[in-house]
Amino acid sequence: MTQDELKALVGQAALNYVVPGEIVGVGTGSTVNKFIDALATMKDQIKGAVSSSEASTVRLKALGIPVFDSNEVESLSVYIDGADEIDHQGHMVKGGGAALTREKIVAAQSKQFVCIADESKLVDALGAFPLPVEVIPMATARVMRQFVAMGGTAAVRLKDGQPLVTDNGQHIVDVKGLTITDPVAFETEVSQWPGVVTVGVFALQKAQVCLLGTAQGVKTLAF
Ligand code: 5RP
Repeated sequence: MTQDELKALVGQAALNYVVPGEIVGVGTGSTVNKFIDALATMKDQIKGAVSSSEASTVRLKALGIPVFDSNEVESLSVYIDGADEIDHQGHMVKGGGAALTREKIVAAQSKQFVCIADESKLVDALGAFPLPVEVIPMATARVMRQFVAMGGTAAVRLKDGQPLVTDNGQHIVDVKGLTITDPVAFETEVSQWPGVVTVGVFALQKAQVCLLGTAQGVKTLAF
């Protein structure tokens, strides 16, 4: 199976976690796009979605799925999202699609995080994928120096030769060369650095379930 087919497989499997009559939390990315397409087949059975990005909002609305502001919804039973890396405890690196801040917000208001990913995303330790960090532009140089002091190399993510601007009007710093041995401690520390909006380690908001697309079919990992 191609990677695209594996993404479609887990996107479809995630429908089993959607609670009829409720609002579902929806992440961002190419795997989630497959989930949104599948969700459209049961759109009459749900109230709608809380979305984690402008891109997902556009796709949801185009398929006729109502999108609620997260402030209108106190809590969600489930949040479905992809990951750039997931370890064997359900800790993730996210933000490859630059949507990490809103993803963490929707994850925080959800009782269960269901990660959908193809098997290439499962890792023993986080850090091989460049770690996305959303940063207030004024602080990027300082934050990058702090990552260099930790042994990493950092660069501002560009789009068309200019710093990429997130849905929240901020920039993304991508950090290479880190091995994140204690994801909770790492997320806790970096989240406190002045100017950091969101660090792409999701350990405090980790997944409870991962639907992993493999050549043998969908494997369910519970954490
Ligand atoms: C977006 C994300 C995505 O979940 C992550 O990048 C995985 O994306 P894809 O499903 O396209 O591989 O965190 O900010």
